[in-house]
Amino acid sequence: MQIPEGGQSLKGFPLSPAFVYLRSDFINKHMLTMERTLTILKPDCVRKQLIGAVIDKIERAGFRIVAMKKIRLTTQTAGEFYAVHRERPFYGELVAFMSSGPCVPMILEKDNAVSDFRTLIGATDPAQAADGTVRKLYADSKGENIIHGSDSAENASIEGAFFFSAEEVVSVD
Ligand code: CMP
Repeated sequence: MQIPEGGQSLKGFPLSPAFVYLRSDFINKHMLTMERTLTILKPDCVRKQLIGAVIDKIERAGFRIVAMKKIRLTTQTAGEFYAVHRERPFYGELVAFMSSGPCVPMILEKDNAVSDFRTLIGATDPAQAADGTVRKLYADSKGENIIHGSDSAENASIEGAFFFSAEEVVSVD
C-alpha cells in the first residue's frame, strides 16, 4: 500500500504529518514484520489429549492462529509432506507415525514467527530440548515429538499451502 507523505491528501482530505507518522509507525510495527509459520500437532499430541495444553502455550507466547483443522494424513500425503527426508533412515518410521492417527495443522502469525516458534517447541530430540519447551514437557522421543515447526519462512509458506486453501487462512485484525 502506498503511504501518503505529510501534507498529501487521501481522497481529498488533508493528512497531518502526525497522522501520517502514526499510521506508518503502526504499519511498521504490526504488519511489515509479521511472519507466518506452519505447525502440526502430531498424532501423539492428539492421542495424549494435549491439543488444548499445547495451543494454550502457543497463544500465551503471542502467536495468532490464522488457520487450523484436524485431519488424518494417509501414508501417501505424509510421505509427500516429509519428502525432503525420503533418503533418511527414519523416513518409513516417520511416515507410519504421521499417518497413525489424526493431527492438527495450524498456520500461526507473529513477529519473527519461524524462529520464535522453534524456540518455543525446543530441540527435535526432547532429551536435548530446553526446560519449559513443548517437546521437553510433553514429547517421548525424536520420532514421537508432539509438534512440528517450519524451519524457514519459505518452507512455512510451502507447508501452509500443503494443508490449507487461501479461503481457510483468516488473519486476525
Ligand atoms: P519434524 O520437525 O516434524 O521434522 C522431521 C521429523 O523427523 C522430526 O520432526 C522428527 O519427528 C523426525 N526425526 C528426526 N530425526 C529422527 C530420528 N533420528 N529418528 C526418528 N525420527 C526422526
